[in-house]
Amino acid sequence: MTRDFDPSVDPEVFAAISAEEERQRDSTELIASENFVSRAVREAQGSVLTNKYAEGYPGKRYYGGCENVDRVERLAQERVKELFGCRFANVQPHSGSAANMAAIRALVPPGGRIMGMSVDGGGHLSHGYSLSFSGQDYVSASYSVDEKTLLLDYDRILEQAREFKPNLIICGASAYSRTIDFAAFRRIADEVGAFLLADIAHIAGLVATGLHPSPIGLADVVTSTTHKTLRGPRGGLILTDSEELAKRIDKCVFPGIQGGPLEHVIAAKAVAFKEDLAPEYATYMAQVVANAKAMSEEFVKLGYRVLTGGTDNHLFLLDVLTSKGLTGRQVQTLLESVNITANRNSIPYDTQKPYITSGLRIGTPAMTTRGFKEGEFITIAHLIDEAIDHRDQPEYLAGIKEKVVALNRSFPLPE
Ligand SMILES: Cc1ncc(COP(=O)(O)O)c(C=O)c1O
Repeated sequence: MTRDFDPSVDPEVFAAISAEEERQRDSTELIASENFVSRAVREAQGSVLTNKYAEGYPGKRYYGGCENVDRVERLAQERVKELFGCRFANVQPHSGSAANMAAIRALVPPGGRIMGMSVDGGGHLSHGYSLSFSGQDYVSASYSVDEKTLLLDYDRILEQAREFKPNLIICGASAYSRTIDFAAFRRIADEVGAFLLADIAHIAGLVATGLHPSPIGLADVVTSTTHKTLRGPRGGLILTDSEELAKRIDKCVFPGIQGGPLEHVIAAKAVAFKEDLAPEYATYMAQVVANAKAMSEEFVKLGYRVLTGGTDNHLFLLDVLTSKGLTGRQVQTLLESVNITANRNSIPYDTQKPYITSGLRIGTPAMTTRGFKEGEFITIAHLIDEAIDHRDQPEYLAGIKEKVVALNRSFPLPE
């Protein structure tokens, strides 16, 4: 990774990158929103395209010398349209949040009414949370999951929508392990005369490979990140089938909320989309889901409270407070000490503050990229359980860490 970086030019940054490379190599990465990109993706992002200003869109730039970045951006657009089967794509958003900001603005002017999934229910900050632009520039209300089943309750969401009368309903989640019924959301939006935005940042890879129903043709606009299951560079994208909305979206991205596009990142997105269109990617995504199912089932066998009892996708949530009497924060810190990286996560109707939490979110995309199959994820589930049960025994924990490092070293990072 640091192969082309001359350490003498900047020893401090070189040292930090090298240490991070080592950390990634020797840790089991279970953060559901992370992945390991290919060398080609990394090299495209590290290319000379970072030198280029290209405000505008392919064929309509405000700077000269854009013929090569035009090619790159068109390739990214064409490939992502093929991947999801839609008519228009904007690949310029710098992040998932920026994609949502532009998409929401394209559908509802600031001051309008939006309704999204609550953060503790599993939604994202940019879906209307009070400290996000989406909760500050808009009048927002949130829906959650059913208190008992922890599943989306579409009848209840319809009731809420009838009452709140949103201009826009946002569906999609950061921490929901079950299939989202986009057709049900479409019916709710139609019933109350609202636009529908589907944010598939987490499940994009499942949607692209047919492992989760697609919102294309149902939602007015679809947004995603490119760095999670899609295994591309950090960034965002916006899709629609409507020509009129596509024009509005383009204006809202640039000049609405962004200046010059990051063409080096767009090149890396194009490379990732090509990889995502290959048959091996569908095999990879199927393994991601199989691994999440196997690991969540193992936690159930180990006596943990797995939210909703398991998963349909690439992630699941453990209620570690009920299961083991520890907060999400405590377990996250404990696991870090044995080289297992996961993130604490609020669970629906959490009794703990968002900085503490009762839950732990576990995802399988990153380690599946490194070649983990069901057996390795089951081994890691047992090591997590052992670490929790022996948390006060440093020698035992050191033994677990050794096992984790050894396992990771036999599954190298992408070259
Ligand atoms: C559903 C969803 N949307 C949007 C985002 C925001 O992406 P970013 O961190 O790139 O702004 C996330 C990030 O976790 C997410 O889970």
